[in-house]
Amino acid sequence: MKLIGLGNDLIDIRRIERTLERFGDRFINRVYTVVEITKSERRANRAESYAKRFAAKEACSKALGTGIRRGVHWRTMGVVNLPSGKPTMNLIDGAAVRLQELTPPGMVAQIDLTITDEYPLAQAIVMISAIPEEWA
Ligand SMILES: CC(C)(COP(=O)(O)OP(=O)(O)OC[C@H]1O[C@@H](n2cnc3c(N)ncnc32)[C@H](O)[C@@H]1OP(=O)(O)O)[C@@H](O)C(=O)NCCC(=O)NCCS
Repeated sequence: MKLIGLGNDLIDIRRIERTLERFGDRFINRVYTVVEITKSERRANRAESYAKRFAAKEACSKALGTGIRRGVHWRTMGVVNLPSGKPTMNLIDGAAVRLQELTPPGMVAQIDLTITDEYPLAQAIVMISAIPEEWA
């Protein structure tokens, strides 16, 4: 296994609360995937859920080494939960292209994500590694 990227982010949940109040669906639809919206809207504390996912996107953009730019935009990185609840990230478009560029030939990328919140903070850590194709 080869480590190809590491990123973290810490966010004040109250910032997301204010943004949700002010911009509502305009913010949600610009930043989040359908999977993230469905999950967060089902939660009692939707601001916490959106904040953790926002931190995950920023952490992922750092692990990709780009930040939120060069085709790596909010909705190109989406948090998905496995049936156990464990989260990972699904990348599309510009973010997927960047991930492919970082992945050595004959290997596949694996994205590990951990998120947490303790009001008023939410945090995410993303680790991107490359593993041999035959391990995947
Ligand atoms: C890197 C990014 C994702 C994080 O910015 P941030 O949340 O404002 O700042 P943070 O304090 O969490 O992180 C900054 C650190 O990230 C690191 N960083 C900067 N660019 C990076 C990159 N391309 N790859 C990896 N890490 C990077 C740096 O170490 C930086 O700290 P330093 O300048 O003191 O060395 C930034 O590129 C970005 O695009 N932010 C988007 C902000 C935005 O558009 N908000 C609008 C809300 S809708």
